[in-house]
Amino acid sequence: MQDNSRHGLWKGNLSFILIATGSTVGLGNIWRFPYIAGENGGSAFMLVYLVSIFLIGLPLIMAEIMIGRKARANPIDAVGNLAKENKSTGAWSIVGIMSLLSGFLILTFYAVIAGWSIEYLLDFVLGAFKETTTADAGKTFNDFLKSPSKLIIWATVIIFATMLIVGLGVKKGLEKNINWMMPGLVVLLLVILGYSMASGSFIEGFKFLFAFDSSKISADSFLAALGQAFFTLSLAAGAIIAYGAYLPRESSIPKVSFTVVLSDTFIAIIAGLAIFPLVFANGLNAGEGPGLLFVTLTTAFSNMPFGSFFGFLFFAMLTIAALTSSISMIEASMAFCIERFKWSRVKSAIVLGVIVWFLSLGTVFSFNYWSEFKIFGKTIFDSIDYLTSSILMPLGGMFMAIFVGWILPKKISKAELNLGTWFGLWFNTIRFVTPLLIIIVFLSKLGFIG
Ligand code: PHE
Repeated sequence: MQDNSRHGLWKGNLSFILIATGSTVGLGNIWRFPYIAGENGGSAFMLVYLVSIFLIGLPLIMAEIMIGRKARANPIDAVGNLAKENKSTGAWSIVGIMSLLSGFLILTFYAVIAGWSIEYLLDFVLGAFKETTTADAGKTFNDFLKSPSKLIIWATVIIFATMLIVGLGVKKGLEKNINWMMPGLVVLLLVILGYSMASGSFIEGFKFLFAFDSSKISADSFLAALGQAFFTLSLAAGAIIAYGAYLPRESSIPKVSFTVVLSDTFIAIIAGLAIFPLVFANGLNAGEGPGLLFVTLTTAFSNMPFGSFFGFLFFAMLTIAALTSSISMIEASMAFCIERFKWSRVKSAIVLGVIVWFLSLGTVFSFNYWSEFKIFGKTIFDSIDYLTSSILMPLGGMFMAIFVGWILPKKISKAELNLGTWFGLWFNTIRFVTPLLIIIVFLSKLGFIG
């Protein structure tokens, strides 16, 4: 078998680490993590989140990269082919189908939220925020959401940019520019962290996240934390298998996985520590919802020296971080269309882009025209978010762990991962611990445990 990918290969370890970190670090760390943690009681959520990252996320990210690299195909065929080659049923490709669907559906709301960040970066350029109070920032945010045309324009820009990059080929579009993006974002987060430390409520924010309080734990926060771990690590969403398919044979999967998981977790924690003290210092409610980031940071930037400048830089970086994630959400579907339907990259990008755009209107209208339209008490945006993060991804991840732990011959993983004496630890975790933990979370949510 020729060991290459028709879409090309990454240059090496560092290149893959940057690209994969580009996928994992995004709105999930900076926008979603604080607001979901806030809605689920902070520290109670944190514990489950960190356990999920290291006992479920880390072994799974290694498994996904391995599946991609071994099969050198889109996630559906990657899992399906590996299953068939190893005397199992092609029905395992369902894992790939669920993943592809998740990535695709996430993009339909992710593009809308990334669009908010464009609006805010422009507002800072135009100097719209000066000594803004939290109440004003909240009002500005709510008024903005009531304007579908703006939301549509910015979502269109994001979808267009995403499809342009994947249309050109992720490698061409990304590999050169990714080097400065991540460091830039981290520096800006540290600036906000510094400001937040001086806000007078740092300890309160810190305690909110880290003073473990078991009384706040509930089945809902379990599932939310598990879902967030999947979301932030881009797991069971096609992205990692698709990117793994372009990983050179010589690269060490454990090394790149560790680096990516640690960087992602580090950035989420910095974001949390930067944001919560500001929430408390400004008397905001931690369970504020999707607006949390936009309202707190706007208040903070507008009151700090050179705030317009930092505000602009921050939201510009956030937009870029969102883009490096959004392209990874759709790359699996791109590879699928190219490999299965023999479409060109450009045609695949256009077709997928148009569908994503139409579906994104569901999220846009969730904040205005259709805000009262609820499915099981959730708006369309909340429903897509719940369906992906709380159902499709954890379930897909569970099947993936079972596939790798029980179906794929052990010798394949052993050769691919090259873990030495650590192999047993990884293997037993993915075989027993990962699927069991996911099952426990589901059972507790369904009311069978706890
Ligand atoms: N991990 C990305 C983030 O945290 C989101 C993402 C989800 C990317 C699924 C790819 C697939 O922003």
